[in-house]
Amino acid sequence: MLDHDDALKAVESSLDRPSAARVYDYFIGGSTNYAIDRNFAEMVRLRLPLMGDYCLTSRQFLGRAVRQCVGAGITQFVDIGSGLPTAGNVHEVADEVRPDEDTHVLYIDNEPIALAHSTLLLADTADPARHHAIAADFLQPEDLWDRVSASGIIDVDLPIALVINAVMHFVKDDQDPDALLTFYRERLAPGSLLVLSQMTNENPVNEDERQALVDLLEYYETTTNHGFLRTKDEFSRFFGGWPMLAPGLVYAPAWHPDEHTVFAGSPSESRVIGGVARKPAP
Ligand SMILES: C[S@@+](CC[C@H](N)C(=O)[O-])C[C@H]1O[C@@H](n2cnc3c(N)ncnc32)[C@H](O)[C@@H]1O
Repeated sequence: MLDHDDALKAVESSLDRPSAARVYDYFIGGSTNYAIDRNFAEMVRLRLPLMGDYCLTSRQFLGRAVRQCVGAGITQFVDIGSGLPTAGNVHEVADEVRPDEDTHVLYIDNEPIALAHSTLLLADTADPARHHAIAADFLQPEDLWDRVSASGIIDVDLPIALVINAVMHFVKDDQDPDALLTFYRERLAPGSLLVLSQMTNENPVNEDERQALVDLLEYYETTTNHGFLRTKDEFSRFFGGWPMLAPGLVYAPAWHPDEHTVFAGSPSESRVIGGVARKPAP
């Protein structure tokens, strides 16, 4: 486990480039970011003025998806690419919906700063018997799953909600996301739920927006995480053909919107797609 000094060293050594995790944190109103991240975010905002709202859309989808998973009887969550804790973390939402406080949450990210901050947040707000954060890489599935199994927090033989929210747009097709998702889907027990969302380049409103999304990917080439947008058709394969919970794979604001949902009146402007699928019995 990373200690405080290691985490600090890792963070300091990563300040030569913007970090996608810290940029996202800035966009959704967090405070775990540096000038290099904020300057990058403002450059993005000049080209895509609603980028902050796209990030907020992803975060809000996460909260609503966790609520629905708990409502569907899930008590275990593995959150891969959990990012920097702000409000509305998975364990907070789950405990709010299920006051019995019997939900277990494992946070996983490969950014040192994310682990450092998750560890601090959990020390303040969580129950160490049920909530934990570890560093692992989504792209190293066997190692990651070994750590999930060994965490003492998650029973991998029972249903889990596997949350990979706003992460797949950092996995390019040449990194073999199909094999990665197949690996994770195969590990899950029947009845598990798979929560996935990502930014989309589906139906840009005009040529300028189409080009702005191309430019966005070019900007992210200078950060710790490179971007890759997908249409709904390209993204739907990651659910492996499992039955989808209603309303299926949709623009995220159209997925069980509530009174806080940004773009609720115009979901396709959100540039974020998401859905939840259930692993069927064999
Ligand atoms: C846009 S943030 C999303 C945070 C959170 N899931 C949410 O929806 O609010 C993407 C996160 O994915 C993490 N990430 C990207 N690639 C990863 C990888 N290969 N393994 C683990 N985490 C990764 C980044 O460090 C970042 O924290």
